[in-house]
Amino acid sequence: MSEIAKLELNGKTYEFPVTEGTEKEKAIDISKLRDLTGYITMDQGYKNTGSCYSNITFLDGELGILKYRGYTIEELAEKSNFLEVSYLLIFGKLPSKTELEKFENGIRKYSLVHEEMKNIIDGFPKTAHPMGVLASLTSALTAFNPKSVNANNESEMFEAVCKTMSKFLVIATWTYRKNKGYPLNYYDNTKNYVENFMQLMFSLPTGPYKIDPVVVSALDKLFILHADHEQNCSTSTVRIVGSSHAGLFASISAGVSALWGPLHGGANQAVLEMLEEIKDNGGDVAKYILKAKDKDDPFRLMGFGHRVYKNFDPRAKIIKKAADDVLDTLGIDDPILEIAKQLEKAALEDDYFKSRNLYPNVDFYSGIIYRALGIPTDMFTVMFAIGRLPGWIAQWKEMRLNKEPIGRPRQIYTGNVGLQYVDINQR
Ligand code: CMC
Repeated sequence: MSEIAKLELNGKTYEFPVTEGTEKEKAIDISKLRDLTGYITMDQGYKNTGSCYSNITFLDGELGILKYRGYTIEELAEKSNFLEVSYLLIFGKLPSKTELEKFENGIRKYSLVHEEMKNIIDGFPKTAHPMGVLASLTSALTAFNPKSVNANNESEMFEAVCKTMSKFLVIATWTYRKNKGYPLNYYDNTKNYVENFMQLMFSLPTGPYKIDPVVVSALDKLFILHADHEQNCSTSTVRIVGSSHAGLFASISAGVSALWGPLHGGANQAVLEMLEEIKDNGGDVAKYILKAKDKDDPFRLMGFGHRVYKNFDPRAKIIKKAADDVLDTLGIDDPILEIAKQLEKAALEDDYFKSRNLYPNVDFYSGIIYRALGIPTDMFTVMFAIGRLPGWIAQWKEMRLNKEPIGRPRQIYTGNVGLQYVDINQR
């Protein structure tokens, strides 16, 4: 028998159905609550509120489980690659060889970005943060690709997905090239997606550029680990913007802006800034551990703890290994990375962190890898955005196919009541 939730309010009893997901998560369906009672629920930050039914990603923060379309993140990171995972997220199943080839070729086909986009980039000051530039450029893509996508039309949707995957990668790297004053590179159709990221970022017209396969493999893993994380801040943003039937580029541009914040994607940049601060202040790791534990000190160890993962972050386990591989292969000797290792060791052995289940999260290690690859700190969140792109696309597509209603939360008004207008001369 299906469960029923009962609510007693002002002497009356109301019944609400309970819905259950395929991983046994349960929710009380209150969609009729206001109609029946005149009341709404209050849940700031939506920590107890499901906003949609979704087939894309499952995560269990208590058990440290993350799955895309039913496959564990561990298995995907070990056996798959970023484009295959992107296909899985967006189209719902692992591609056959032919389907994957079609996807890769589609991305190649649309990889040229309109030359006039360069005029827009030229309008930004060199000092502009790359995330701000990326959000604007993504939005500007709408102007060059004005045809709105019919999510129900498979070939239109496929074209839009390929366009977004390719053009977003190119403009993301252009935000860096512009900042460095380097010529803007083009996608190279002889290379794969992640290799293209490397050459778009780093190859110079003055000589050949060699792409290191260990680096490509670590980046590929990082992108897989970031590819989706169910209804987080930026993804919910993409869905809610798209729910007004705004286009794909416009919705993703909003997602980029949401991701930029230091409490979300901006944390990986904050990790490196913290490590730099520790180094500049003499490299005393123990002092910073004490600061993090001091309740009167606002300092927190960046890259430790997680909003939903309360035991460990499954992504961090995988990426720690990739970080070790990259540092070993590149033989990097960097005092910042040495501080990171000391900090990780000290925190993992400290009772304060152990008793609160505060482990390094994915951002702790991703920052270290990006640093080792020579990616500047202010590009870290752009890296996150490149990884998260297939997740945003998948969630936008699902929301449109499910014909979800426009997102419109309610509120409890707490402002003034019954004021009378006073003429400006009498105020
Ligand atoms: N350093 C020191 N103490 C901490 C930290 C930290 N990084 N994180 C939590 N605590 C303490 C906190 O003070 C509290 O102690 P007490 O029980 O004595 O009051 C306890 O641990 C529980 O913390 P909380 O604030 O209830 O945890 P939360 O779930 O509200 O916050 C968090 C999660 C991620 C915001 C927080 O751990 C944090 O600020 N971490 C650093 C920032 C960071 O790395 N963010 C990236 C998250 S992953 C990116 C993503 O997926 O978008």
